[in-house]
Amino acid sequence: MSRNGTLKIVNANLVNEGQIKICDLLIKGNRIERIADTLSSYESDEVFDAQGNHLLPGLIDDQVHFREPGLTHKGTIASESKAAIAGGITSFFEMPNTQPQTTTIQAWEEKNKIAASNSFANYAFMFGGTNDNLKQIQALDSTRVPALKLFLGSSTGNMLVDNPDVLRAIFSNTDLVIAVHCEDETTIQTNLKMATAQFGNSIPIEYHPKIRSEEACFLSSSSAVALAKETGARLHVFHVSTAKELALFDNTIPLEHKKITAEVCTHHLWFSDADYKSKGTAIKWNPAVKTKKDQDALWEGLNSDLLDVLATDHAPHTFEEKNKFYTQAPSGGPLVQHALPALLTAYHNGKITLEKMVQKACHNPAILFDIKHRGFIREGYFADMVLVDIEESWTVEKKDLLYKCGWSPFEGTTFKGKVIRTLLNGVWVYDGKQIAPNSAAMALTFDR
Ligand code: DOR
Repeated sequence: MSRNGTLKIVNANLVNEGQIKICDLLIKGNRIERIADTLSSYESDEVFDAQGNHLLPGLIDDQVHFREPGLTHKGTIASESKAAIAGGITSFFEMPNTQPQTTTIQAWEEKNKIAASNSFANYAFMFGGTNDNLKQIQALDSTRVPALKLFLGSSTGNMLVDNPDVLRAIFSNTDLVIAVHCEDETTIQTNLKMATAQFGNSIPIEYHPKIRSEEACFLSSSSAVALAKETGARLHVFHVSTAKELALFDNTIPLEHKKITAEVCTHHLWFSDADYKSKGTAIKWNPAVKTKKDQDALWEGLNSDLLDVLATDHAPHTFEEKNKFYTQAPSGGPLVQHALPALLTAYHNGKITLEKMVQKACHNPAILFDIKHRGFIREGYFADMVLVDIEESWTVEKKDLLYKCGWSPFEGTTFKGKVIRTLLNGVWVYDGKQIAPNSAAMALTFDR
């Protein structure tokens, strides 16, 4: 589906490039044609009055797990990308821990084929590194692959890459961004053994951040950073969860010139270990949600530019799977429908400005990964946008969830700030109630 003709959006409070300004926009086909204080002299086929609401670039989520192929009882590219669109996320990078794993070019092409016919949002797929696929990594088309993903700690999907020689070879032999999951496996296994000796099969969920500990995170992320410095690799550390790791990052260099960057996720900003008692394994993630002190430091790190990108790590599992006992319950939870409302609520709570939020969730992923013509509201760029009512309060209810797994860690939470419309490649694909039946989604491309 694509737009025939023109759309004029008038009176929008545009949040873009560090400013909030009332503007009119003209959309032609799938791109932004004109932005000006007023476009009243311009004719258009459709006019939308955005008065009173804020218009943001569509969010770009650099880390999601949509589970297809192979794990489609948890989610599909169609179901989870619909939820993303309802959450104002117009582009996503999906992770390689599917079945089969996305560790061969053939599996990567297959995923792209599925997305081309099923995705409701713009898509790109990370390629998974293993202990023996360097040749394939070197053959990847960097204009279509956003980054290489390495699990330096075990998580869903058994994709641990733990051979130091292999890591050195990968870091030394690719120009791709290397996105890493950092948790030291030996530390985790030692901590797990101790907890099992104490509690047997009934380890309380409160022990999750003691098992997947601060030290496990720091050991792994600091050695990845050291290896990147030594080899000159372009490293992106996913889901930073501790205050201690912030010392590894630099806020004195503009993002365009950074060789080591970092991401923080919704759940590590929203939840703390005080929530395990009420939420249980629903908030079991890898890396674990840690202390309030860590949570506060992550907000500070985000605002001071030690952390570059805001993402979700959306990782659905079924309700039944999540409700098993601690060691059996998988880590991860669905987030894409609610990350932006959570951020808008955080804005009201004084945690972040709207401009900063847009920088971290829209502009910076585009800059960091060289995404072509997205992430900003600019003339000539694709018209991916989300309209939000920042004043509306609403409560998350099960009946409104679009996730295939049908549950959310935010059920019962009241947010202040709501997505009321999403525009994808110039097409209104969400009107606050319904997702358009035909997708306007495109494959993301990279200017490299
Ligand atoms: O909590 C997590 N869940 N962390 C990951 O790294 C993987 C994810 C998943 O795929 O379930």
